Amino acid sequence: FLERGWRTPYIYQFQGFWCQPKEIQAILLFHKHFQARESDIILATIPKSGTTWLKALAFAILNRKQFPAFSNNHPLLVSNPHDLVPFFEYKLYANNQIPDLSKYPEPRTFATHIPFQSLEESIKKSNCKIVYICRNPFDTFISSWIYCNKLRAETLPPLLREDCFNMYCNGAIGFGPFWDHMLGYWKESLERPDKVLFLKYEDMKEDTSFHLKKLAKFLGCPFSMEEEKERVIEDIAKLCSFEKMKNLEVNKSGKSIMNFENRHLFRKGEVGDWMNYLSPSMVEQLTQVMEEKLGGSGLEFKLLS
Ligand code: A3P
Repeated sequence: FLERGWRTPYIYQFQGFWCQPKEIQAILLFHKHFQARESDIILATIPKSGTTWLKALAFAILNRKQFPAFSNNHPLLVSNPHDLVPFFEYKLYANNQIPDLSKYPEPRTFATHIPFQSLEESIKKSNCKIVYICRNPFDTFISSWIYCNKLRAETLPPLLREDCFNMYCNGAIGFGPFWDHMLGYWKESLERPDKVLFLKYEDMKEDTSFHLKKLAKFLGCPFSMEEEKERVIEDIAKLCSFEKMKNLEVNKSGKSIMNFENRHLFRKGEVGDWMNYLSPSMVEQLTQVMEEKLGGSGLEFKLLS
C-alpha cells in the first residue's frame, strides 16, 4: 500500500491498479455476483474524464422515446446522472450489498471505473457493450487534484499539487496507472470495435452532435432521419451540456455518489484548464510519461480547445 493516498490516508494496489479498501470490498462482491447479459451496457472511465457527462448522454439517448430531451419532466432535470446510471463499486455492490439486478429495465446500464483487465469475466466475454470515455491526462490530473481536495477529510492537510503530480506520473491515482487504464480499453476497442466504443472528452466537446450519433448507433438505437430533422440530437446535447447540468437544483445540492456533494462534479468542464496550473517542468514531465507509456499505441490527445 501507499501512504498518502489522494482522498484518504492510504491507497492499495489491487490486481495491478490503485484503489481504496471500500472499493476493493465492493469489487470483490461484484466479481462474485454479477452476471452480464448480452444486452447490458457498461459505461467505463477513469475518474474525472467525463463520467457524469457520459452517463447523462447515454441515459438521454436510450430513454428518448419515453422522455424526449425537451420535456419538462425529464429524469435528468430532477436526478443526478449517477443516480440514473449506477456505479458497480460505489452504489450497487457498495457497503456489502448484493443487489437483485434481475428486474432492472433492459438494456441494463451500469458504470464503472474498474480497468478492463479487472472487469468481471462475463462482461469481458459476452457481447454486452462497453463505452469508454477518455480525457487528456493534463486536464484529468488537474480535475482529480482539485476534486480530491474538495472531498478530503478536514482533519487531513490539503493535497499539494506537486506531491499529487508526482504520484500521478508514477501511476498512483485511483484506478490508475492512467496509461494502463486507457490502454486496456483502447486495445480492446481496436480488436473488438463492436464491443468497445472509445470516445474522447475533447472530441465530444468539439463536435457533440457527431459523437452523439456515433454513440446512439453503437448502443443499437441510431437516430432516424426524422429525429435528425426534429433536432433531437441538439436537444439531447443541450439537456446534457455542462452549463445546463451545473445549474440544475439537484446538481447544486444533492449527493449521489456516497456522501460526496453533486456540486463538486461540475467545475469548469473545459479543455486546456491545465494551462492555469502546471509549470513548464510539469508539462515536460507529463509529456515524457505519455510518450513513454502511450507512444506507439496510436492513442493521442488534443491538449487545448
Ligand atoms: P473539470 O474538473 O475539468 O471541470 P467525472 O464526471 O468523470 O467526475 O469528470 C468530471 C469532469 O467533467 C469535471 O471537469 C467536470 O466539470 C466535467 N463535467 C461534468 N459534467 C459535464 C458535462 N455535462 N459536460 C462536460 N463536462 C462535464
